[in-house]
Amino acid sequence: MHIPVTTLNDGLTVPEIGFGTYKLNGNVGVNAITSAIDIGYRLIDTAYNYENEGTVGEAIRRSTTPREQLLITSKLPGRYQPYDKAVIAIQESLYRANLDYYDLYLIHWPNPQQDIYVEAWQALIDAKKWGLIRSIGVCNFLPEHLERLDKETGVLPSMNQIELHPFFNQEALRKWHEEHNVKTESWSPLGRASAVLQNDTIGEIADQHQKTISQVILRWHYQLGAISIPKSSTPSRQLENISIFDFSLSESEMTTISKLTLPDGRLKGQDPAIYEEF
Ligand SMILES: NC(=O)c1ccc[n+]([C@@H]2O[C@H](COP(=O)([O-])OP(=O)(O)OC[C@H]3O[C@@H](n4cnc5c(N)ncnc54)[C@H](OP(=O)(O)O)[C@@H]3O)[C@@H](O)[C@H]2O)c1
Repeated sequence: MHIPVTTLNDGLTVPEIGFGTYKLNGNVGVNAITSAIDIGYRLIDTAYNYENEGTVGEAIRRSTTPREQLLITSKLPGRYQPYDKAVIAIQESLYRANLDYYDLYLIHWPNPQQDIYVEAWQALIDAKKWGLIRSIGVCNFLPEHLERLDKETGVLPSMNQIELHPFFNQEALRKWHEEHNVKTESWSPLGRASAVLQNDTIGEIADQHQKTISQVILRWHYQLGAISIPKSSTPSRQLENISIFDFSLSESEMTTISKLTLPDGRLKGQDPAIYEEF
């Protein structure tokens, strides 16, 4: 399976599609993640708060793919944003997965009311210097948060993982990312299997290309310049979701899908200016 790659602003090369693992825990999770690796996924997305870094680590151990060919992402929870706690949490994340390093480590939410995401960021900068992480990024940051990181530490994240799907296309934030060389990564790229997977407009485009709605949506992410990380516990869907590099959407098809966006098309109204997660 050939997957195109992209190089982040700090030089790390990553695949243009990855695998989400939220809700993949225990033995069922290990089997699903091992299957995804066998099918060809190399970028695996976990988080401290998914309570499955151990599951990901076990899948890596059982897989025949060498560790150095995989790119593993985890995330720092809000409750560990104070600098000293962040350093310990990163170490704990590694112990849970039984890994020596993460390829990517992200701040999970900015939690702006707490106002300590800059010291969490400093911990990630230092952990990178110590060799615990190869590339550092964030999730759910707004331009004002990203600008503050840059101003106070001089380091912009390599990526910002944000909610992005056809009902919430994040046009303004993607533009900001492009202008500042921060890679966009899409969470819930299939809208967590909500109404978007039944959308008639996307369905017509899918029929034209003899592809599924999921494949058209994931191709749309790729052509927007965003890395998507679809999750599936089903091997046939895992294969379907990664088989998107043998067709392309026209400019007008891209526009048609982008126009499905809604003023607040967030799945659960999780606006990072207000919503906090610990
Ligand atoms: N940073 C953050 O704040 C944040 C927030 C949310 C998620 N994430 C990350 O993003 C990843 C992806 O997001 P997500 O898991 O919320 O949602 P998603 O990937 O958009 O959707 C997953 C759902 O879609 C179904 N599905 C997958 N492929 C399908 C296909 N080809 N046809 C029909 N249904 C399909 C899956 O079912 P089956 O599993 O039954 O196949 C599952 O119910 C997460 O797993 C997590 O790693 C990050």
